Amino acid sequence: MHPCLGRSARAAFVTIGALFAFAAACEAPAPLETAASGSASGGGEPDPWAAPDVCEGGSYWSGQGTKDMSPGTPCIGCHGPGQGTEFVLAGTVFTTGHVPDACKATPAQQGDLGQAHVFVKDAAGVVLTLPVWPSGNFMQKPPAAPLVLPITAWVAAGGRERHMLGAQMSGDCNACHTDGGDAGTRGRIVLP
Ligand code: HEC
Ligand code: HEC
Repeated sequence: MHPCLGRSARAAFVTIGALFAFAAACEAPAPLETAASGSASGGGEPDPWAAPDVCEGGSYWSGQGTKDMSPGTPCIGCHGPGQGTEFVLAGTVFTTGHVPDACKATPAQQGDLGQAHVFVKDAAGVVLTLPVWPSGNFMQKPPAAPLVLPITAWVAAGGRERHMLGAQMSGDCNACHTDGGDAGTRGRIVLP
C-alpha cells in the first residue's frame, strides 16, 4: 500500500479536516517529514520511504534456521519464550523504505547492510549493540541482565545514525516496521 493511503485511511477516523491535513502532509517536501521522524538525513536528500515498493534483488530467502532467514518478517512471533531459539529483540534493516518480506538484498545492498549496527537502549539505561547480517537481519538472545521495557533504538552505519523518537514496549521490530508501515511507522527500518 502507498504510505500516504495508509495515513489518509487512519486520519479519516479522526475528522475530515484531519484527512485533508494528512493528504497535504504527504505532498509536503521531504525535509519536513524527515525532521519530524528523527531521520539523520538532512535537507535535499531523497526520502527512502518515497521509493517504490520493490524487491530489487528479485529473489527471496527460503528455509529456516539461519541468521539470514525471512528478512522483514516478525521474528519474535516464532522466536518468543519457549519457541525454539529465543530472541528478545529482532528485526531487519533495509536499504529503502518499502520492500516485500523475505526479499534477498542484491550483493551491493548486502555489503552495505553488513556494515551497519542496531543499538537498543532499555529503560534501565543498558545499551545493546546488535550486528546487522548481510540479509539486513539483526537479533539478540536474552541478555544476562534481563531487558527492561520500554526501549529506544537507532541504526548506525558509515558514521550516520537514524533514531526512533518514541519508546516501544516490544522488541519485535518488524511487527511495526512492515512493508506498508504499521502502528504508525513509515515502513521498513532503513539504513541512515
Ligand atoms: C515462521 C516462523 C519463523 C519466523 C517468522 C522466523 N523464524 Fe527464525 N527460525 C524458525 C525456526 C523453526 C528455526 C529453527 C529452530 C530454532 O532455532 O528456533 C529458526 C531458526 C533461526 C535461527 C537459528 C538459531 C540457531 O542458533 O540455531 C536464527 C538466527 C533465526 N531463526 C533468526 C530469525 C530472524 C532474525 C527472523 C526475523 C527476520 C526469524 N528468524 C523469523 C522459524 C521462524
Ligand atoms: C510497537 C511498534 C514499534 C516497534 C516494536 C518498533 N518500532 Fe521503530 N518506530 C515505530 C514508530 C511509530 C516510528 C516512527 C516514529 C518514531 O520515530 O518514534 C518508528 C521509527 C523508527 C526509526 C526511525 C525511522 C524513521 O521513520 O525515521 C527507527 C530507526 C526504528 N524505528 C527502529 C526500530 C528498531 C531497531 C526496533 C526494534 C528494536 C523498532 N524500531 C521497534 C514503531 C515501532
